[in-house]
Amino acid sequence: MLQSPWISRQRVVPFWGQNVKMDRFNFYKLMTLLVGSIIVIQAPKWTNSFIMRHYKLSLGIEAINLTQTKDPLKLFKMWRDEANTLSTLNPRPDVVTIATLGEDGPSTQIVMLRDISDTGFKFYVTTPVTKNLAQNNISFTVVWTFKKSEETFGMRYITVHGITEKIPVNETKELFKLETPTSKIRLILQSQKNDKKQNLSERLQPLLDMYNQNPKQFHKQEMPSEWSGYIIKPKTLEFFQGTKATLGQRIKFSKKSDVKNNSTNLLSDGACGGEKGWIFQVMEP
Ligand SMILES: Cc1cc2nc3c(=O)[nH]c(=O)nc-3n(C[C@H](O)[C@H](O)[C@H](O)COP(=O)(O)O)c2cc1C
Repeated sequence: MLQSPWISRQRVVPFWGQNVKMDRFNFYKLMTLLVGSIIVIQAPKWTNSFIMRHYKLSLGIEAINLTQTKDPLKLFKMWRDEANTLSTLNPRPDVVTIATLGEDGPSTQIVMLRDISDTGFKFYVTTPVTKNLAQNNISFTVVWTFKKSEETFGMRYITVHGITEKIPVNETKELFKLETPTSKIRLILQSQKNDKKQNLSERLQPLLDMYNQNPKQFHKQEMPSEWSGYIIKPKTLEFFQGTKATLGQRIKFSKKSDVKNNSTNLLSDGACGGEKGWIFQVMEP
């Protein structure tokens, strides 16, 4: 019977310092074993580098655009307006948490900013969180989250430090006149003492009736005397923006006049000139 040359042909293969006679079949078996062992040993390394190649970190830098303005109060208003429009997740971008230090320690209170101008941020309260709210150090932080694209959410925060001053009653009354009817109702209800222990809907109904009977007359409602207005005169404002996938950038504005009187000279520390007496420093990240 004829034997297949494939099986019968023998080779001399060097193996472990010896010359071994081996037919083709056994030679391929040995080669498969060797190649298989290499694959098994190297596989984790190859898989890892494959994964690394496909999941590269892409950490961008989110820079704050100062080309439109270098005036921090104008920038505050721009960001606040954008928070209103950039499909924001914050229903009330004007609402901030103020923090003060009183005799009993630190306190915070949620208030709504009623006016923002070059002089500062105006708000009013029925019961000030800290007894001596006027002429006190104050700070507040406001955080806005918004959608940048289908997948990306952006985050911005602004932290303000300053001094509070009480504003004249007639100025506060002027601010009250600008409130919407629903806001006026809320402010009136918040100032009521509720001695009769009525529930909220019992207290709300007469005000709604008053508005529905004569909206024009309702608009002329005077501000309840329990409300008092304050202005926060800012000394520093820090702006931050970034997303989950980026390194954020912060820009801190300080009053040039304050910095000059201070021992730490920001100007010699790389600060740039802003507008309206402000200077700013870029802090990264
Ligand atoms: C969205 C929102 C805005 C608010 N704005 C103000 C405000 O501008 N002034 C204020 O005194 N309280 C405001 N409050 C209520 C305060 O956070 C807090 O409840 C109130 O000052 C407590 O007052 P009281 O100590 O007299 O009970 C607001 C609350 C919310 C939820």
